[in-house]
Amino acid sequence: MKKPVVQSKKKKKNIVIIGAQWGDEGKAKMVDVLTEQVDIVARYQGGSNAGHTVVTGGKKFVFHQIPSGILHKGKKCVIGNGVVLDPVALIGEIKSLAFEGVKIHDRLILSDRAHLLMPYHRLLDGASEARKGSGKIGTTNRGIGPAYMDKMARVGVKVVDLFDPVSFRQKLRIIVKEKNFFLKNYYGRPMVSADKIADQYLKLGSIIKPLIQDTTVYLESALKKGHAVLAEGAQGTLLDVDFGTYPYVTSSSASVGGVCTGLGVGPRWWDEIYGVAKAYATRVGEGPFTSEMDEVFGEKIRQRGGEFGATTGRPRRCGWMDLVALKYACRVNGFTGILLTKIDVLSNLPTLKICTSYQIEGKKVSEFPAGLNTLSKAKPVYREMKGWQGDLAHAESIKDLPVEARRYIDEIEKYIQVPIQWVSVGPDRSQIFPRS
Ligand code: IMP
Repeated sequence: MKKPVVQSKKKKKNIVIIGAQWGDEGKAKMVDVLTEQVDIVARYQGGSNAGHTVVTGGKKFVFHQIPSGILHKGKKCVIGNGVVLDPVALIGEIKSLAFEGVKIHDRLILSDRAHLLMPYHRLLDGASEARKGSGKIGTTNRGIGPAYMDKMARVGVKVVDLFDPVSFRQKLRIIVKEKNFFLKNYYGRPMVSADKIADQYLKLGSIIKPLIQDTTVYLESALKKGHAVLAEGAQGTLLDVDFGTYPYVTSSSASVGGVCTGLGVGPRWWDEIYGVAKAYATRVGEGPFTSEMDEVFGEKIRQRGGEFGATTGRPRRCGWMDLVALKYACRVNGFTGILLTKIDVLSNLPTLKICTSYQIEGKKVSEFPAGLNTLSKAKPVYREMKGWQGDLAHAESIKDLPVEARRYIDEIEKYIQVPIQWVSVGPDRSQIFPRS
């Protein structure tokens, strides 16, 4: 199979890749393909809640914090200040990559301004979810919400703090006092020791020290030299803390705004903002999902699409393509193009459904509602389309797709008014082609 030519060699573009749905859209594969065209791949938000899967040469790699660009020899990878960094998980990830023969050396750079994910964040995430019972968010239990809460409440600890051991220990003693109060009195959970955590984290700090830099200086200098950067988003727009289905969201800015605050690279540098959208929809965890399929059909798509969480192994809920939600994601991110993934999963179905509007209390609604209660009442209005037969896995260009599959792509594009630029037809790096 020919290598896909995904952008002109003339001018290297700085690219942002963002999930256009509820995460798990296949961003990692698109990042992997586009990494060939850039010099640096940078993560800007989230943390070890992400599970980015890349399949190459029959081998499957799952990334949680390290940008998936690390698989490409010679490319640099940055973990920006907007990420909440779990150093225990990071060292585990570095070790498992080394086991697979992927060397980090001087290719991974961590921001000194990133906030640290602490052991009590994980404990509080689990305790809070358990306490909420059926009203839980359905988090990944990686401590993400509590870590971002501390950042905003101005009681977080940053990577740079690891290198001032005396004040790090003092800070932790104060913070842990409050955490223990909640753990013991509100959640009835065991307390933690500030000094033990300090000992553990100071040791981890000495291991990761060679990777740490002011990434704003590093990125600015690279950009000024003409090096191209790809910003790799985690989760998706509908899980964004501002634009998602709040409170059933993650705690970071998973949409375009997070790129500037999470890397310290201003808007003027970015040439393309690509949204990755799956040809159908999935979500993990709780929260409204208007175009959700019924259980039996959803299970069929789940099995076909391997829709199980890469971080938690949880089965993903499956639904039809929701164009109301996708159009909204296009608006709030200003996507310049869409990368459509997993269209092969929809093969051999007699009919396909696309949600083109919602019915809410008898009224037609074409814009994604802000309120959770309103969204929960929405009924999908579908347009039915004829399905296609056959396996798309070997398609190498749009012309190789059955006419019904092309119509499906055209229909999405017509509605969202953003060009679909690439189509992916399988998990492997090679199973992708440009739209035209
Ligand atoms: P948290 O990010 O662990 O706090 O989880 C909040 C919500 O975001 C839950 O519904 C999770 O299932 C969802 N979520 C977090 N990370 C991912 C991801 O990488 N893919 C899909 N859903 C995610």
